[in-house]
Amino acid sequence: MVGQALIQWFLPSASTDSVVAIYPGSFDPLTNGHLDLIRRARRIAGKLIVAVLNNDQKHPLFSVEERMEMLREACVEMDNVEVGSFSGLLAEYAANRGARVIVRGIRAISDYEYELQMASMNRRMRPEIETMFLLAAEENSFISSRLVKEIARLGGNISGIVPNFVESRLAARFENPSKV
Ligand code: PNS
Repeated sequence: MVGQALIQWFLPSASTDSVVAIYPGSFDPLTNGHLDLIRRARRIAGKLIVAVLNNDQKHPLFSVEERMEMLREACVEMDNVEVGSFSGLLAEYAANRGARVIVRGIRAISDYEYELQMASMNRRMRPEIETMFLLAAEENSFISSRLVKEIARLGGNISGIVPNFVESRLAARFENPSKV
């Protein structure tokens, strides 16, 4: 019930069941760090929307559909988790989906500056939506999608850092058949 107490402190008029939260990101690809955050965030919201950014300017390795497929596979047993995608402003997407909370993870102090800027700008645009930061678990604090891709591309071992099916997809993408 820590989740309930926390959300009532955060959003006094809400019960956990009625709170829709959004966890946005690129998820290119999903890592075990993301997955840990999804598992923890879903306990403090009635519904958690994991929202994949649709932005080709970032030149993602996986298409939005592929990234959503991986998320759906990982969250198949999480009944209050929905996978979505968005383009344009996150604050507008969150408002359109009726979300009152944006969840972001912080791994290290270096994440904080960017996250603080984003949260402040999002609050300026949509003051009714709160950003909530969850600290990455210690064992995940070094994981990033960027490094996962680089290691996979160079044939390194990423088991335990991403789900097995993500590892296979990365191996297939980089044509490393021994790991598919
Ligand atoms: O996983 P990432 O790449 O760190 O996620 C960044 C994301 C998707 C949360 C951020 O780039 C974003 O919100 N993009 C949507 C465009 C937007 O709203 N920009 C203004 C942010 S204040």
